Amino acid sequence: MSLTDKKVKITTVVCKNQSDYSRDIVWENAQDLEHLPTLHRTTNSRIQLLHYVKSDGFGVAYDDLVFRAKRRFGFLSFHSIGVRRIVDKYKLVQIESFPSLGIYYKLSSVVEVDLLDSRKSILCDDVEVFWFGFCKVFSRFLNRRIQYHAKQQNLEDETFRERRTDLRSRGFNIPFTILNKTLFEEFLEAK
Ligand SMILES: [Fe+2]
Repeated sequence: MSLTDKKVKITTVVCKNQSDYSRDIVWENAQDLEHLPTLHRTTNSRIQLLHYVKSDGFGVAYDDLVFRAKRRFGFLSFHSIGVRRIVDKYKLVQIESFPSLGIYYKLSSVVEVDLLDSRKSILCDDVEVFWFGFCKVFSRFLNRRIQYHAKQQNLEDETFRERRTDLRSRGFNIPFTILNKTLFEEFLEAK
């Protein structure tokens, strides 16, 4: 049985949040997973990259990424496993499954230029949640939580974006990279 068997879509949530920073900076931030446990520590306590693939696709540091995480929901923590793919410039898709809860979601995340102010951007997250059919009773609660979560994360990410913008303006155009070794790389080195 796969991690996503026998589930139905219980809700779709569309979140649009504005950033004061440019599309490229917001896109760089969107691709980075390693900042989650520090910048979003109320909802993340661990992210481990398992493997990534860099092909000739649209990603700066990777095109496909596999990770596992420990996500916090109030006093509770749940382990997850996720995959993400950069499907276009400024667009990624992520599927994350929580095996102990039997829930998973598909996120499509797109960074757009803010049409009212081209120096700013809009981060558009489209989240589809799949769970057992009887869990549809939680759909309104999940909608509110996902909207709140996306808004909070966007606010917390502004410090990351501010720092990267500041560095670029001072001539430090450091390319975005994955900093930690993946589990796959560690395994290969240990052999
Ligand atoms: Fe973030």
